[in-house]
Amino acid sequence: MRRVRVRLGRNGYSILIGSGLLAQTGHLLKELGFSDKLVIITDSSVKRLYGTALKQSLTRNGFKVTTLEVPEGEEQKALETAGKLYGELTDFYAERATPILALGGGVIGDLAGFVAATYLRGVPLIQLPTTLLAQVDSSIGGKVAVDHGQLKNKIGAFYQPRLVISDITTLKTLTAGEVSDGLAEAIKYGVIQDRELFAYLERNLYRIKSLDDKALETIVFRSAKIKAEVVEKDERDLGLRNILNYGHTVGHAIESVSDFRVGHGQAVAVGMLVAARISNRMGILESSEVDRLKAVIEKAGLLTESPGLDIEKLIQSMRHDKKIVLGKIRFVLPRTIGEVFVTDEVNPSLVKQVLKEQN
Ligand SMILES: NC(=O)c1ccc[n+]([C@@H]2O[C@H](COP(=O)([O-])OP(=O)(O)OC[C@H]3O[C@@H](n4cnc5c(N)ncnc54)[C@H](O)[C@@H]3O)[C@@H](O)[C@H]2O)c1
Repeated sequence: MRRVRVRLGRNGYSILIGSGLLAQTGHLLKELGFSDKLVIITDSSVKRLYGTALKQSLTRNGFKVTTLEVPEGEEQKALETAGKLYGELTDFYAERATPILALGGGVIGDLAGFVAATYLRGVPLIQLPTTLLAQVDSSIGGKVAVDHGQLKNKIGAFYQPRLVISDITTLKTLTAGEVSDGLAEAIKYGVIQDRELFAYLERNLYRIKSLDDKALETIVFRSAKIKAEVVEKDERDLGLRNILNYGHTVGHAIESVSDFRVGHGQAVAVGMLVAARISNRMGILESSEVDRLKAVIEKAGLLTESPGLDIEKLIQSMRHDKKIVLGKIRFVLPRTIGEVFVTDEVNPSLVKQVLKEQN
């Protein structure tokens, strides 16, 4: 088992990464000082796959467990679902000290995290991420939220978990598409901060895609470490955390203009390449680095071009992104693989030109 510590003073916590960890959850929670009752929030697919193993580990260690199940899908990240869960928590007499265990992908992590942050003004949250995206990204850093209509993550909080347990074995049941989605974020960490991680991905993508335990553990560990370091320096997203948005300015626009037909990981992949090409045209990033990025994105099963979207709509959508400051589009651009910088000074005509070439 590998451990990453997120150092945030009294809000600090550990991320545990390894195979077969769900079966050890009861013991791990006892070690943290929890006892008595707890609540699992999960979705129907994940419950079917991993609900019993988790519950057994908890009851074996003397916990009284209730499982609250929501249907799967982004639509569940809504105030209405949160409202139902508050009611069920009340029926179970959940108290301030009753932990909520979020067992699932990013949707469950965000939703159960939001409920944990707000029920009784906050109950302990344990993240048990089961998708690659959730293990490398969404379970770490304390951003919890629900959507509001079409507006993603509009209502939320910064609420750090008490523990994150990433059981690598759960990744074995993901589809190839879900693995690729998570890989987009791992590639992102390589470009923003860790040239070695990027090189590891270049060499080992075939092992990762065939769900090799060691390779998966390595990329989850290294990605978690980078996210933890960034979050430690900027818990509330006031500066440095911006670099985590590499590829996301264009990515969010592609998701939205395509009416979410292009998924998040796929859209971010195109966005990362657009940003790299912009940097290259500005004379900063070398062409050979752009080629390496394109090759990794392709090998990961991700898109390198958007599927013929309206360029004006993409630009409009970028202008509406919540990260926009004073009407300027903010870009995270790579200097080299392993280092990025944030700028509001990209010429809009260059953005249009690169988007056209990659569309
Ligand atoms: N909080 C953050 O910092 C942050 C960061 C990135 C993304 N997010 C959020 O994460 C969400 C996307 O997360 P996601 O991609 O994990 O999607 P998801 O949670 O919808 O999971 C994808 C699908 O995989 C299934 N699934 C989960 N684990 C599985 C497993 N081990 N085996 C088989 N199937 C499994 C789920 O039932 C679901 O159908 C979005 O809502 C996004 O906004 C949050």
